[in-house]
Amino acid sequence: MNPGGENVAVVGAGRMGTSIAYALAAAGHRVEVFDPVEAARAAVPERLAAIEAQLDLAVAVGVHDSLAAAVQRADVVIEAGPERLDAKREIFAELVRDAPVWALLATNTSAIPIAEIAAGLPTGERILGTHFWNPPHLVPLVEVVEAETTGAAAVARMVAFLREAGMRPVHVKADIPGFIGNRLQHAMKREAIALVAAGHCTAEALDEVVRHGFGSRLAAIGPLEQADLGGLELTLAIHQTLMPDLDRTPVPHPLLVEKVERGEVGVAVGRGFRDWAPGEAEEVRERVTRELLRRRASERTSSNDGMGTVDGVGNQKVRSDAQ
Ligand SMILES: NC(=O)c1ccc[n+]([C@@H]2O[C@H](COP(=O)([O-])OP(=O)(O)OC[C@H]3O[C@@H](n4cnc5c(N)ncnc54)[C@H](O)[C@@H]3O)[C@@H](O)[C@H]2O)c1
Repeated sequence: MNPGGENVAVVGAGRMGTSIAYALAAAGHRVEVFDPVEAARAAVPERLAAIEAQLDLAVAVGVHDSLAAAVQRADVVIEAGPERLDAKREIFAELVRDAPVWALLATNTSAIPIAEIAAGLPTGERILGTHFWNPPHLVPLVEVVEAETTGAAAVARMVAFLREAGMRPVHVKADIPGFIGNRLQHAMKREAIALVAAGHCTAEALDEVVRHGFGSRLAAIGPLEQADLGGLELTLAIHQTLMPDLDRTPVPHPLLVEKVERGEVGVAVGRGFRDWAPGEAEEVRERVTRELLRRRASERTSSNDGMGTVDGVGNQKVRSDAQ
C-alpha cells in the first residue's frame, strides 16, 4: 500500500456503498463515491454523519455524479450498485474503460456469479469479488472471491489492501453461490425452518437456542476449531446419528414459500416466522448495533492485529463536494 493511502472509488452510494466508503476513508484512503441518483448522492453526508456519530470519527469522502470522474485515479474500485446482472455488467464495462489499467475492479455482489459480470470484458484478471457484510463499518469480514479469470496477483493485492485497512479479508477460492458466509447462514436457516415447520419448536425458541447457546461463543471460536478442540471422534459420532435426520430439502422450504405467498413477509407487515409488535423491530436493530459496537470496541482495545490501525488515523474533515 502507498504510505499516503490508496485512491479508492466506491460505485453506488447506497446502504453498503456509503458504509464501505466510510470504512476505507477511516483507514486513511482517499475515497471518491459515484451514484447516478441525485437523492442517493444527497443522502451521503447524512449517512456518513450517522456512522461518524456511532464511531466518533469524521472522514472525508468525495461525492460524484460522473463515474469517470470518481474512478479516474482509482487504485481500487468497489462496486456496490444494484443487485442486477445488467446493471453490474454496464458498470463494469464503464470501469474497464474509465479506471486506470492498474486498478483492481471489485464487485460487492451478494449472489451474482462474478464470471457473469466479467464475461466478455478484456481485463478479467483484475476483476474479483469483495463481499462485505452489513454494515461494513462495524463487521470486519470481507470475502475476497476469486473468479476463474481472476489473477492471483489481484487477489493478493486486495487481501493486503483490506487487511491494511483493518478489515478481515478471507480468500474464497471459487466463484460459488453464497461464497462461504451465506452458505453457512442458509444451511442453518434451512434446518431452522424445517424444525419450526415440523412443530419441534417455536421460531422464538429456535432463536433463543442460537443466541444464548452456541451463538454466544461463535464470535470466539469457529465450528472447525471447536470440532478440533472436542476431538474429531466426537464430531464423527454425532454426525453418524444426526446426518440422516437433518433436513435435505433441495429447494426453498414449503413453509417459507407459503409464508411469502400469504404475504407474511416479516417486520414490514408485522408477521413472519413470528409476530412483531410496533417498535419491536427497531429494538432488535438497536440491540444488534449495540452488540456490534461493543465487539468492535473490545477488539480494538484487546488486540494489536491491525484492527487498531483505523482509529489511529485521527479525525479528518468531512468533504462532501458533490460534483
Ligand atoms: N444490504 C446488504 O446487506 C448487502 C450485503 C452484502 C452485499 N450487498 C450487495 O451490495 C450491493 C449494494 O447493496 P445496497 O444494500 O447498498 O443497495 P442500495 O439499494 O442501498 O444501494 C444501491 C445504490 O446503487 C445506486 N445505483 C443505481 N444505479 C446505479 C448505477 N448504474 N451505477 C452505480 N450505482 C447505481 C443506487 O442509486 C443506490 O444508491 C448489492 O449488489 C447488494 O446485493 C448488500
